[in-house]
Amino acid sequence: MKYFIVTYGCQMNVHESEKLAAICERMGYSLAEKREDAELIIFNTCAIREGAEDRVFGNVGALKKLKKKKPNIIIAVCGCMTQKETTANHIMRTFPFVDIVIGTFNLPNFEYYVNAVKKGRQLEILQEGDIDETVPYKRTSGENAWVNIMQGCNNFCTYCIVPYVRGREKSRSEENILKEIREVVAEGKYKKITLLGQNVNSYGKDLVPAVSFAQLLRDICAIPGDFKLWFMTSHPKDLTDDVIDVIASEEKILKDIHLPAQSGNNRILNLMNRRYTREKYLGIIKKIREKIPNCRITSDFIVGFPTETEEEFQDTMSLVDEVKYDSIFAFMYSPREGTVASRMDGQVPQEIKQRRVNELLALEKKIQKQEGKK
Ligand code: SAH
Ligand code: SF4
Ligand code: F3S
Repeated sequence: MKYFIVTYGCQMNVHESEKLAAICERMGYSLAEKREDAELIIFNTCAIREGAEDRVFGNVGALKKLKKKKPNIIIAVCGCMTQKETTANHIMRTFPFVDIVIGTFNLPNFEYYVNAVKKGRQLEILQEGDIDETVPYKRTSGENAWVNIMQGCNNFCTYCIVPYVRGREKSRSEENILKEIREVVAEGKYKKITLLGQNVNSYGKDLVPAVSFAQLLRDICAIPGDFKLWFMTSHPKDLTDDVIDVIASEEKILKDIHLPAQSGNNRILNLMNRRYTREKYLGIIKKIREKIPNCRITSDFIVGFPTETEEEFQDTMSLVDEVKYDSIFAFMYSPREGTVASRMDGQVPQEIKQRRVNELLALEKKIQKQEGKK
């Protein structure tokens, strides 16, 4: 019996697929080389933009024929898309050959759903629960080991679906994180450890007693061993001086910060509920440059947020020009059902978003050429 997992979305999902892989192997399945060879096919989905969802619909739909040929295979759709009840129901209706539809919070119980499917189709979307500490991961990312430090997000940026499909911020206990990292280091095959959280800088605020992210970084660096430490994602509103100081002083921490700005215009940043200004953001960049010379800095941007004017978009262009990032991701704003921004007037037409994203990426390319950055 073989399994195959198709993963969409961010590192968080990639890492959770490592948990699904461990569950499948515990059940006696082994990894198939391609989906056609598997008896259990899992789609771990992403809901961040419409394009991500469309890819899932297309790829799940394509399995209709396979299921006709091999009626005994089990097809499961899980992750961020199916944590939304409307999308989960839509998938059950549109793709009657899908056996299991579950959300992000059901993942640790995946084995239960596979066993139950033998009695009939399963649809279940649980509400958020505690962070699962019981299921191990089957690490699949080469020399890099992902380590989740928290789940969820409290920020409610007005464009973003993540707080709705991942629940509120919950930090793992520092003890459990350190234990996992000690084990990873002891295995001896991982050169890099990447900490994951939607907003790592607010790590530990919910713990009693509270632990700061800077303290967590220091404690991890104190673990003996030859490894590099990286983390994502940092939110500019919470990136404190003590975190910058720890990155500067700890040799194990990679000098590489992903600090999404999203926009260079204060009115748009405010509408996005990002809770920092262009000036505050540039202040952080200045501090990083002063304290960590040669630090790589990367960012995410959204163009065509509702009501964004041409001048406001040019503020994003000038921010990118000023910071001279090592690399950026630029996204066209995609309305997500249930978010505040999707209900705003002044949605920007697709062709304008397209032009703006092209312009931004062209600028980035030009800067990289000039600066000789990679
Ligand atoms: N927690 C991280 C990243 C979350 S998603 C952070 O706050 O930075 C990764 C990126 O997707 C975001 O940085 C944002 O640029 C983009 N994104 C999120 N929602 C989007 C939407 N509705 N439309 C377009 N891009 C979006
Ligand atoms: Fe989404 Fe904002 Fe949370 Fe990032 S910080 S996951 S963009 S709500
Ligand atoms: Fe990640 Fe996509 Fe979910 S970006 S948190 S997999 S919506």
